Amino acid sequence: MSHFDEDIMDLPTLKTMVLVHGIPIGAGSAENWERVEEFQARSDDVIIATYPKAGTTWVSEVVDMIYCGGNPEKCRRDTIYNRVPYLEFKIPDMPTGVEILKDKPSPRLVKTHLPIQLMPESFWDNKSKVIYVARNAKDVAVSYYFFHNMVKAMPDPGPWDTFLDSYMKGYVNYGSWHDHVKGWWEKRYEYNILYLFYEDLKEDPKREIRKMLQFLEIDMSEDIIEKIVYHTSFEEMKNNDMVNYKTLPNEILDQTTTTFMRKGLAGDWKNYFTVAQNEKFDEHYKRHMSGTNLCFRTEI
Ligand code: A3P
Repeated sequence: MSHFDEDIMDLPTLKTMVLVHGIPIGAGSAENWERVEEFQARSDDVIIATYPKAGTTWVSEVVDMIYCGGNPEKCRRDTIYNRVPYLEFKIPDMPTGVEILKDKPSPRLVKTHLPIQLMPESFWDNKSKVIYVARNAKDVAVSYYFFHNMVKAMPDPGPWDTFLDSYMKGYVNYGSWHDHVKGWWEKRYEYNILYLFYEDLKEDPKREIRKMLQFLEIDMSEDIIEKIVYHTSFEEMKNNDMVNYKTLPNEILDQTTTTFMRKGLAGDWKNYFTVAQNEKFDEHYKRHMSGTNLCFRTEI
């Protein structure tokens, strides 16, 4: 597992980051680390954990729809970032994720991008349920690159080629994609973890929603499952201001050139990777993913 040292922290993609136990984390979240570490979980908390850009918002909306009995009006009660608070979130002049969560009635839905080794212990002590969503490394790279350009608080990603190189090395917020997906995979049977893949959700959302229902021990009719599939489709979510982050001002998230709900595809990386970049990526990937039986599909 990559464990970074301070000497990389001057890199452009790590500006505004701080190392927390060797992992680059946004300075605000790092400042609040003690509160995150001491977070008091509840046994009926449901955590949606991902490496950034793996489909967090999508699965958050699906899970909230499940808890709202498939009623889209109930899901429109608030924005996704209030309905599913972001555990380690902290930026100036806003309540932190921990503060928002503290006052939420159960069952709480919690979003996090933390690698498994940084998760507050109390989640495991309370046997809280975690739905981990993983997406193939190449589509995440592209999505993350566009996201860096949208979020004002994120470092400037620079040109695509340089960003891709930093991403491969894990010199980005939340560190190495490889370590993140492997870390959660290795512990999936030790804790209460349902490990899902973005590509599977794209392929057959109904099947994946059924897996979530079984994991959450909730019964639901086929009719309602179909409603959830419809309401959480890319097109529906793109036009839904309660999930597309359009409620955030441009000074925080600038959606003038690309939108948060950008393309929502499996295999879009092919439009951005050059042949040389792809070869280099594959060679590096092989080295970093050897010794695991965790497999990804880069297209469906
Ligand atoms: P793209 O940038 O490839 O379009 P996260 O929520 O983890 O930040 O992930 C965002 C990515 O998930 C974006 O990917 C976004 O378009 C995609 N996404 C969000 N909702 C989706 C949906 N309903 N179906 C498919 N992809 C979705």
